[in-house]
Amino acid sequence: MKENIKEVLLSEEQLQTRIRELAAQLSEDYAGKDPIFVGVLKGVVMFFGDIVKRIDIPCQIDFMWISSYEGTESKHMTVKKDISEDIRGRHVVILEDIFDTGNSLDFSYKHLLEKEPASLKICTLLDKPERRNPAVTLQADYVGFTIPNEFVVGYGLDFNEFYRNLPFIGVLKPEAYQ
Ligand code: IMP
Ligand code: MG
Repeated sequence: MKENIKEVLLSEEQLQTRIRELAAQLSEDYAGKDPIFVGVLKGVVMFFGDIVKRIDIPCQIDFMWISSYEGTESKHMTVKKDISEDIRGRHVVILEDIFDTGNSLDFSYKHLLEKEPASLKICTLLDKPERRNPAVTLQADYVGFTIPNEFVVGYGLDFNEFYRNLPFIGVLKPEAYQ
């Protein structure tokens, strides 16, 4: 598996250091607000566990799972598993693995906004701004790392459902997916 990694982009140590900073920031910003952190499955699992355990204010967690399928003209998204908590009037933070084209975050954001939370913000571990769909005007409120336009795997991120279990984030060798 590791032989298919061209380079380690973010080591375990770099990830954990930045995640502690983000957790400290969120703990400060959401003090007294009893926020709900909503993880978007599956890519967020590692980040979610690591950041939530560093948040030191009362909070709740929930998950949603969305899937996309190719329609005749464009990509469509559906909610495969919705959140189970009632977020109306609550302070909600979406946790995501990567903000790429932004299509999925845009979809998740709009879906949760319909449930009328008191506030809705986005925290993404990775941001790949070069790939953004120009139609997506959404911005992330908290970003772990801004990364170049390369396909990355590990720490929850997959290629064909593999590599999620790598403890670091690496760039996949082109021959591994071509
Ligand atoms: P979007 O393009 O921002 O809608 O991202 C959709 C999804 O594509 C993300 O949630 C990831 O699961 C996946 N994705 C985007 N870029 C990468 C990457 O570099 N590696 C692995 N998965 C990615
Ligand atoms: Mg994926």
